[in-house]
Amino acid sequence: QRKSCSRSKGIASKNARALSPCTWCETSMKVLIIGSGAREHAIADACGRSESRPKLVIYGLSRNPGLASTASQYEVADSFEPSRVVAFAQKTGAEMAIVGPEAPLAIGVVDELLKAGIATVGPTQAAARIETSKSFTRELLQEEDLPVYPTFAVVTDERGLDKWLSQYDGEFVVKPDGLTGGKGVKVQGDHFSTKEEGRTYALKCLHKDGRVVVEEKLIGQEFSLMSFSDGTHASHMPVVQDNKRLRSGDQGPNTGGMGSVSDANHSLPFLSPRDIEQAQKTNEQVIQALKARGLEYKGILYGNFMAVSDGIRLVEYNARFGDPEVMNVLSILESDFIEICQAVVDGTLDMVTPRFASEAVVCKYLIPEGYPENPVKNKKIDLNKVDTRQVSIYYGAVEEGNRGLYLTGSRAVALVGKGRTIAEAEKLVEEEIAKVTGPVTHRADIGTAALTEKRTAAMQELRQTVGVA
Ligand code: AMP
Ligand code: GLY
Repeated sequence: QRKSCSRSKGIASKNARALSPCTWCETSMKVLIIGSGAREHAIADACGRSESRPKLVIYGLSRNPGLASTASQYEVADSFEPSRVVAFAQKTGAEMAIVGPEAPLAIGVVDELLKAGIATVGPTQAAARIETSKSFTRELLQEEDLPVYPTFAVVTDERGLDKWLSQYDGEFVVKPDGLTGGKGVKVQGDHFSTKEEGRTYALKCLHKDGRVVVEEKLIGQEFSLMSFSDGTHASHMPVVQDNKRLRSGDQGPNTGGMGSVSDANHSLPFLSPRDIEQAQKTNEQVIQALKARGLEYKGILYGNFMAVSDGIRLVEYNARFGDPEVMNVLSILESDFIEICQAVVDGTLDMVTPRFASEAVVCKYLIPEGYPENPVKNKKIDLNKVDTRQVSIYYGAVEEGNRGLYLTGSRAVALVGKGRTIAEAEKLVEEEIAKVTGPVTHRADIGTAALTEKRTAAMQELRQTVGVA
């Protein structure tokens, strides 16, 4: 019997209906998830809700207890070396792979999986340049004449830098060209004060990478619009706002993201329908622009936009789900996630319309005391009293030890609540966070009515000054 089943031979079907477990041999599709953070836990959770009941196999750099509980096989490795990922995929018989973080995309894991015949949700190394090279993205938007990029220059020598600085008057931002784990971008007023300090940092980047992006500092409210892309079609998710600063009131250093909010209408209180339409159109145009350059983008295109006085600007692109933004969108995804992934790899996204529930979502990360500079490690965190009927728990940087969960130094656990309003969802999350014990902290202001009102008022004021409110 097994011989007559195409899935048991590792042939991924093009027919979404064929995703249900095979009636001949009862085997389910095997899906490889690459990565081992809370983002990947949320992806695994969404896979687990699929009617196709896929078997999950995980390749990550740590053993995430949440992911481990969903997986039939789990490889903990010390790198995303493409050949090792492919070897694991082949050993486990994975038919589809979903890439979580940017690091494997940057080193061509997808290219190698595709060569091995494994359908993959995630762009190739060349297409992932949309995230891995700031200059590539800025130049792409400029070449396509998309009206969402700030004044910028890609400079390749000191003379070019000084020329731009002598011509540009306002506050500016310095962006190293490659991946820097969210720590490379420096913004005048936040990370450096004078033009000279910015110049010194830009020169340092220039010497390191041979090029650096300098650009206008944008003022406004950031938001994330993630879209599924099959290389041709885009299917948009609800917009989300991440909160990157460490401390309440947007104080302290930037982090990977302390928590995120999304509203029941899939917009945000400070955005207009026009802002969202423009962001969606930009993602669609970028997918077409990549295609025109021979880059078929299959995966998640994550636009980090800023709503500014006269519309929106693109701050940067990421080539993957945002963390924590993924927790907001996948928590309210009503459609079958595996079916969407299948459409992404098959190029049939136009046949699938992902549905999202009309609920507000608030996600807050618990972080070890001392994070990010000097985080507490190997200390116990106890979540046993958290009511999982009220909130969902996604595990990040924690490990299972003899007597429970232990902190490993980065963002530890995300708690996610849903409600009719952002404030209602926030309240649920705070009630449950109060039951957690251990040397952890979080941002209490994310999702509160006070913070939402402050952001909305700031946006209104900004737009009134140019009469576009
Ligand atoms: P990145 O490391 O590229 O994710 O950028 C980190 C953060 O820097 C962004 O989330 C923004 O908050 C900020 N940033 C980047 N570019 C600009 C810009 N042109 N104006 C103002 N802030 C920016
Ligand atoms: N939320 C920020 C990121 O995923 O890069």
